[in-house]
Amino acid sequence: MNPPIISATDVRKVYFIGDSKVEALRGVDFSVQAGEMVAVMGPSGCGKTTLLNCLSGLDTFDHGSVVIEGQSLEKFGDRNLTRYRAGNMGFIFQSYNLLPVISAAENVELALLVNGVHGREARHKALDMLDAVGLSDWKHHRPAQLSGGQRQRVAIARALANQPAIVWADEPTGNLDDDTSLEVLNLMRRLNAEHAQTFVIVTHDPKVGDFCDRVVRMANGRMVADGNGLTTAEDSHDEGAAHDAATEEDTSIADMASVRDGPSADSGLKDGTTTGTGPDAT
Ligand SMILES: Nc1ncnc2c1ncn2[C@@H]1O[C@H](COP(=O)(O)OP(=O)(O)OP(=O)(O)O)[C@@H](O)[C@H]1O
Ligand SMILES: [Mg+2]
Repeated sequence: MNPPIISATDVRKVYFIGDSKVEALRGVDFSVQAGEMVAVMGPSGCGKTTLLNCLSGLDTFDHGSVVIEGQSLEKFGDRNLTRYRAGNMGFIFQSYNLLPVISAAENVELALLVNGVHGREARHKALDMLDAVGLSDWKHHRPAQLSGGQRQRVAIARALANQPAIVWADEPTGNLDDDTSLEVLNLMRRLNAEHAQTFVIVTHDPKVGDFCDRVVRMANGRMVADGNGLTTAEDSHDEGAAHDAATEEDTSIADMASVRDGPSADSGLKDGTTTGTGPDAT
């Protein structure tokens, strides 16, 4: 097997607020193969966003190591890490983080310009990406003139514009209705299949897990179950909550196995582009 594209060992992170201390990550081991689509699930406050931020270099951690594409995050240095992130990582946040005063096309184009792609090429690529997410007809619209699902698709286009090796998504369907969630998931699955990009998706939504190759579950700042349903030895005699979560996961992963391959890349293609009818005024 190839070395993992993401490898985290014993990652720990503590937040201090005044005198109180929150152990957000309590020794996480986690690795992802290139081209894998992994869902990270677990109860609110268990450390999912913290993990995503630490693994992607958006935030620092206190202990352990994170190796991305063979390079240790600690050894990047701030400037190199920022450059590496811009070129090799894409981020999809629940709140979209689109710039409100520029159009959908310009939001995508900006990500390319920041990464050193020049004017006309950046515009072409941005339009290609908007086309891929079924939004060609909305390219001049500003975020406020788009629906939630359309905004989310602009955010996906922006995250994928530089063809990053790794895409990090935090609750990418958190604000979306069922139909739009399905549309966004189909789109991500299709892009993952076409470009072999690695996706790490934090989610509360079991439907998102169904779309992924693997589901890992966190509880109390630790990994308590991996896609094969195994619980680590330490966790099996750790606190009850973690054990319960792992047991639940055994069942849900078994259930998932039968449906996981259901939404194929082909059906994704079909479903992912069905809502792309143009706006009334063209
Ligand atoms: N900037 C911060 N300062 C202090 N504590 C924080 C900070 N960010 C997160 N925490 C704490 O760390 C723990 C993990 O938070 P995190 O945001 O990673 O959880 P989560 O699993 O993403 O939850 P949710 O599903 O609600 O988004 C929580 O107890 C939270 O209160
Ligand atoms: Mg979170």
